[in-house]
Amino acid sequence: MPASNPVFVALDTTESETAAALAGRLAGLVGGFKLGLEYFVANGPAGLRAVSSLGMPLFVDLKLHDIPNTVAAAMRGVARLNAAITTIHASGGAAMIRAAADAARDEAARLGVAPPAVVAVTILTSLDQAAAEAVGFHGPVSDQVRRLAALAQDSGADGIVCSPLEADAVRAQCGPSFKLVIPGIRPAWSEAGDQKRFLTPAEARAKGADVLVIGRPITGAADPAEAARRINRELGL
Ligand code: C5P
Repeated sequence: MPASNPVFVALDTTESETAAALAGRLAGLVGGFKLGLEYFVANGPAGLRAVSSLGMPLFVDLKLHDIPNTVAAAMRGVARLNAAITTIHASGGAAMIRAAADAARDEAARLGVAPPAVVAVTILTSLDQAAAEAVGFHGPVSDQVRRLAALAQDSGADGIVCSPLEADAVRAQCGPSFKLVIPGIRPAWSEAGDQKRFLTPAEARAKGADVLVIGRPITGAADPAEAARRINRELGL
């Protein structure tokens, strides 16, 4: 996990040339790059290498959720890609989380590389209260997030993804060394877009975010490098 610059830029594209070009403009100005499922399905490991070859940490956001054996096998592949951070679903259960975390560490140790931080998604923020109830998560979503955060931590995950507004509660519950990866960040000078609940980079950092996932405020800026520099200044970097 990065200590110096906490900003991982979400390169939300299916085009490897677009991702590599943007990453090339931002390398050295940010902490790393996040590539998601849509990019991986389109471009595979070679597409990830097109970005990681710039020498910047990679957040491989696949949100794995399957039986433990299958997730462990996939996670060994993620470790071979030299990912710095990767994601699973906490609702896959204790055994799946444990299998994922163990597989990431074992494969990285076998290769002599640093293991990816295995970070769990609790409740997708696209689920509102009614939708969460419909899949069997009863009670307030915020309670479910804290329950799944505890499950993830107890099962060996390195941290969770959470909204800026949940950061305080999860930090208080899970302690200082549990990693909080936070999307939904908007500098005061950028468009909110479809993010409804957001904090500025400095506010999210003050709440103890270890990783700030920022997409459009940087990727959609007229000058992405300048947007990244401006965020760095606001973070005191
Ligand atoms: O462009 P923007 O800054 O909104 O991008 C945020 C990134 O974080 C996207 O890759 C988005 O899918 C992801 N994300 C999010 N909110 C969540 C979980 C993930 O915005 N709750």
